Amino acid sequence: MSPPCVVVTTAMLLLLLTAAAARDTCSGVTPAPPQRGARVSLASVGGRGDGRTLNTAAFARAVAQIERGGGGGTQLYVPPGVWLTGPFNLTSHMTLFLARGAVIRAHQDTASWPLVDPLPSYGRGRELPGGRYMSFINGNGLQDVVITGDNGTIDGQGSVWWDMWRKRTLPFTRPNLLELMSSTDVTISNLVFQDSPLWNIHPVYCSNVVVANVTILAPHDSPLTDGIDPDSSSNVCIEDCYISTGDDMISIKSGWDQYGIAFGRPSSGITVQRITGSSPFGRPSSGIWWRRKRPSQALEFVQHGGWDQHQDQLRKGRIHPKHHYL
Ligand SMILES: *[C@@H]1O[C@H](CO)[C@@H](O)[C@H](O)[C@H]1NC(C)=O
Ligand SMILES: *[C@@H]1O[C@H](CO)[C@@H](O)[C@H](O)[C@H]1NC(C)=O
Ligand SMILES: *[C@@H]1O[C@H](CO)[C@@H](O)[C@H](O)[C@H]1NC(C)=O
Repeated sequence: MSPPCVVVTTAMLLLLLTAAAARDTCSGVTPAPPQRGARVSLASVGGRGDGRTLNTAAFARAVAQIERGGGGGTQLYVPPGVWLTGPFNLTSHMTLFLARGAVIRAHQDTASWPLVDPLPSYGRGRELPGGRYMSFINGNGLQDVVITGDNGTIDGQGSVWWDMWRKRTLPFTRPNLLELMSSTDVTISNLVFQDSPLWNIHPVYCSNVVVANVTILAPHDSPLTDGIDPDSSSNVCIEDCYISTGDDMISIKSGWDQYGIAFGRPSSGITVQRITGSSPFGRPSSGIWWRRKRPSQALEFVQHGGWDQHQDQLRKGRIHPKHHYL
């Protein structure tokens, strides 16, 4: 065999291996996160995991400290215990690590929950006009973020929000449990998400996102507690998750109605594989859902929503949502 022939054969083999790897695992979707050079424990910045002390300021202090740090970034270590807190922000080049037995628990004081602007691709809160409550764990414009652990729990204590929704006393759109906006290179893995006020995991305007090995739990009668909603995001890989909530297990979105179309950012390059769990529906309601294990699929979803779902008279129009399944 002449040398050029060997070169061609090796290249073809590599191509085949790459294709097989891309189908079976999410590895390679985000760059391997660097070893974090530094570690901050929530306990060392004044936090108390006693289930009663409010740790909002401790989280803010830890994240500010990480923001000032350099190098390969910093791990924020959450030790075993119940860490009650209000909503907080993440920063770039950080790993949020929840030890086994660590629970980050949202407080239920809805009146003190900060409001944020609606998403430009929604035009208003998804449930009510105006702004919306900040997500419990929130990141905006970040890079290189890992949210992981030894199966620790992020608990939204959503029942207080579900009750307001049922009694129609919500002033604004409910918070999501975890939202990352305009961020790249994000990994969310090896954790339990439970009782989200609204959607559980919401990457919006993001690219290079992996969600793997997470358990997402909420009662079947909890309103609109979607599992994972990639929204106007690209290169998202979701695998090996168990999802049982009150709404869609996974729903791929690109904004809402006229606002989504005007914003014009589709979701693309979405891979979903080995998802198990259950949803309260006998059939899909929106986006995509799974009852059982399904083979991997790559999808592009251009527009989510129906006709005239906005009760916004100024922008009323009959628009056909366009769906592309690849
Ligand atoms: C979170 O970050 C946003 C900017 O993205 C800022 O406006 C807000 O005050 C921060 N909120 C908290 C609770 O730190
Ligand atoms: C993580 O916790 C969930 C909920 O308790 C459980 O179902 C799952 O098996 C656990 N996973 C691991 C790897 O321990
Ligand atoms: C998910 O779990 C599997 C099996 O333990 C592991 O090989 C893989 O690296 C995990 N994925 C992530 C993104 O942590």
